[in-house]
Amino acid sequence: MNALSRLWKQLIEKELKQEETEKTRWRPKLHIAPPAGWLNDPNGLCQYQGVYHAFYQFSPFQPEGGLKFWGHCTSRDLLHWTFEGVPLMPDQQEDCHGTYSGSAVAEEGEMYLYYTGNVKETGDYDFINTGRRSYTMLAVSKDGREIETKEVLMTKCDYPSDLTCHVRDPKVWKQEGIYYMVQGARTKEDKGIALLYSSEDKRHWQLLGRFEPEEEFGYMWECPDIYELEGRTVLCISPQGVEEQGLKYANVYQSVTCFIEGDFRKGAQVREFRELDGGFDFYAPQTFLADDGRRIQIAWMGMPDAEEFYVNPTVEDGWQHIMTIPRELSIRHGVLCQNPVRELTEWWNCSHSFEGYFEGKVESCCAFELNTAGEGLQILLAGGLRLSYSPEEKIFWMEFTDSALGAGRTLRGREVDKLERLRLLIDVSGAEVFLNEGEDVFSTRFYPKEDAFTIRIEAPNSKGTYSYHLEEA
Ligand code: FRU
Repeated sequence: MNALSRLWKQLIEKELKQEETEKTRWRPKLHIAPPAGWLNDPNGLCQYQGVYHAFYQFSPFQPEGGLKFWGHCTSRDLLHWTFEGVPLMPDQQEDCHGTYSGSAVAEEGEMYLYYTGNVKETGDYDFINTGRRSYTMLAVSKDGREIETKEVLMTKCDYPSDLTCHVRDPKVWKQEGIYYMVQGARTKEDKGIALLYSSEDKRHWQLLGRFEPEEEFGYMWECPDIYELEGRTVLCISPQGVEEQGLKYANVYQSVTCFIEGDFRKGAQVREFRELDGGFDFYAPQTFLADDGRRIQIAWMGMPDAEEFYVNPTVEDGWQHIMTIPRELSIRHGVLCQNPVRELTEWWNCSHSFEGYFEGKVESCCAFELNTAGEGLQILLAGGLRLSYSPEEKIFWMEFTDSALGAGRTLRGREVDKLERLRLLIDVSGAEVFLNEGEDVFSTRFYPKEDAFTIRIEAPNSKGTYSYHLEEA
């Protein structure tokens, strides 16, 4: 630890102590949230010595975002998370303007944390083609809490010359004895792409190829991820600059996946992207492989640069943003599906069933499941968040009819051919809707008044369950 990181540590400890009292309003019970300040992308997700670790982009001093550190939390069940501190700090020449997003490889008693060191030069630059440096960095830790060493692995001259200064977010994984890294980038022609590298020793990297869109798809790709799932190779990217198309790509930025045909090691031209989420708050998803073989994804349940459209009133309480619930990935009908981790179903210890109709006050952290037999439904949550589907129209809608409840969020919709099953997870100020075993998902924040946890469900001929958790007395 150098003098700068010691200073950061003191300032952060002071900041977090001061914030301790308020913050109960709208704090989720099961979702990762920062103790104070701002959270964005999940980083370094892994299961290490049996424990789940999640790091995240963290600005401890400003709920509106600022200089980026890595916050750290751990969990044994993917539902209850303990804040562990701020291990990765901007304390080097090569990361002084932010320890940006990255990933973890956990093996042989060490955690290898790969990230981007962000540096902005002083002067009149556009910070796209000039004035910015993006270093590929490696920090090694034994426990995720203290960093032992930091190394620079790549600088500008190691990246292809047709790229701008925007190269970042290394995702590293091991496959058949070789390490692979994928990084997001923006070319000088303003095209989003991803770079693929390989290494035998985790430190020396060779460029293997690149993933490029067959047809232009945004000017920059952030936070890429590549993983094997049920015999297929999935590429996940968060592109910026994709134009809205009917109901598609309605948010400021997107998160999409596509399947890579053939051997990913050669890079590829990719197409047929599918949005991972149809709601308002979902960005920069990352995955990891759990010890039991599950591929688990966590995303930032927020949206960058959305302030002119919608906000999060938790800023008044000194904090902003949460993660999605960890989701298990699978493939069904050729589509990538996301469902809450099975630990969630085991967590509920009370449940009531109903048929066709439900109305009343509910717990602020609870879940609903509906088997609809293909018919329509209408759900009204907290008096102003409407979820609806009709088999004639074949569009699932998420609509805020109360503008305070949505804090500016309005309407999102997605074509859904047939609605057979719906799961709704409510956690104080976050709602996630999973349709047809997770083939379509909608995530949003919402801000109800304290006593406004009511729900009305009209779903003719459906069978439903309402579940929640009661602490034993
Ligand atoms: C995505 C992103 C990443 C970057 C990080 C900085 O939200 O812009 O590309 O590493 O956030 O916080």
